[in-house]
Amino acid sequence: LQPSSFLSMLFLLAVAAAHGGDYSREDFPADFVFGSGTSAYQYEGAAFEDGRTPSIWDTFAHSGHTGGATGDVACDGYHKYKEDTGLMVDTHLEAFRFSISWSRLIPNGRGPINPKGLEYYNNFINELINHGIQPHVTLHHIDLPQALDDEYGGWLSRKIVKDFVVYADTCFREFGDRVLHWTTINEANIFSVGGYDEGLIAPGHCSRPVQNNCSKGNSSIEPYIVGHNILLAHSAVAELLVDPLIYGDYPDIVKKNAGKRIPAFTEYESKQIKGSIDFLGVNHYRTLYVKRSRTIPAPSKELTYFLGSAVKLGDLFSDEYAIMPWGLYGVLEYLKQAYGNPPIYVQENERAYGLAGQVTRRNGTLYDKSRVEYLHAYIGGMLDAIRNGSNTRGYFSWTFLDCLELLDGYNTSFGLYYVDLDDKNLTRYPKLSAHWYSHFLKGKSTSS
Ligand code: NOJ
Repeated sequence: LQPSSFLSMLFLLAVAAAHGGDYSREDFPADFVFGSGTSAYQYEGAAFEDGRTPSIWDTFAHSGHTGGATGDVACDGYHKYKEDTGLMVDTHLEAFRFSISWSRLIPNGRGPINPKGLEYYNNFINELINHGIQPHVTLHHIDLPQALDDEYGGWLSRKIVKDFVVYADTCFREFGDRVLHWTTINEANIFSVGGYDEGLIAPGHCSRPVQNNCSKGNSSIEPYIVGHNILLAHSAVAELLVDPLIYGDYPDIVKKNAGKRIPAFTEYESKQIKGSIDFLGVNHYRTLYVKRSRTIPAPSKELTYFLGSAVKLGDLFSDEYAIMPWGLYGVLEYLKQAYGNPPIYVQENERAYGLAGQVTRRNGTLYDKSRVEYLHAYIGGMLDAIRNGSNTRGYFSWTFLDCLELLDGYNTSFGLYYVDLDDKNLTRYPKLSAHWYSHFLKGKSTSS
């Protein structure tokens, strides 16, 4: 399966030529970090081991969603984190992003710490640090303890704020001496809408009958309530996500469209939320076009940048994410202009194989040529934004290993490494993208 290094080299040359740009690690600011990442349920496995209790994602996956797959074993990171740290070293990663499973650390979401859970995260963090890799930790990645969902509806209740604060405080106390970068909630928007409107991800609420095989919940209200409680939980933790985080209130257009469905902030809450971030995490995969309407004034120079590049029609409609690095550039530029240039970490970015039926992990190839093109182009787009003044401080490819994927379990592969699910050792194999990333991180120019 592995391409010869000669072929890889030729390919790396071709990629650099095709995407107009040669750049090297040294073109980025000295304190910029490059890494890759994963999340607890997608990576750890050991779902029933050492005192861990189920999360809403376990329940959702076990009820036949996620392509019929579960994270019971996943990549078995719970037992293989040392081996994986070795692979990170081989890849020259400077940072690694992962999430803590709340129900592994504090079973059922509340009460005493689980010593085995604590030991696992301490060991993993120490292993990373001992190998010079910065840990970046997320507290909630779609995996609320099921017990809290059962008890009071989880994120639909304000009671979540208190429990989330205690959980976060536990993490800060136990790991904060070594973990300097914390993200409260992964993809608050996708979680609120995908989980409470579309029923696509856990906990799978959606009130439009039959849609995605689910009919519980109330789509017109729940996503707003969940989004609202996420902001409150985030800011309560940060006292110590995006207009509201900067300005302390929802934008007027959101208030107008949502009307009474969106809860209001009290004066105290608004103050607490405003400015409650040290950095923004941006997960960026693809760009969607909207039709230009006649009422929009002629494109500014910036807009010309977006609209000017030729995109093949086929790419736009392909399931596989089209390579449009100016989309990432545009997001970073927008955040710079609209929100006062906050520090940013691009926490997820890559192209999946499998969505277009091109290459799935079951008939996989390690020669993931178009993912290398994507990686090269997007890192280049980000570099353009940094050169234009964006305060972007880090980049994490998604994901380090092929693991459980949100919608279709093990059929989509985002990883730099392929994991052989048919092998009881779950052996990992580097793809071409791992070679490319490691070559770049070694400080080599992308065309050398
Ligand atoms: C975003 C989510 O954070 C992650 O869990 C998922 O695997 C990727 N998108 C790809 O769908």
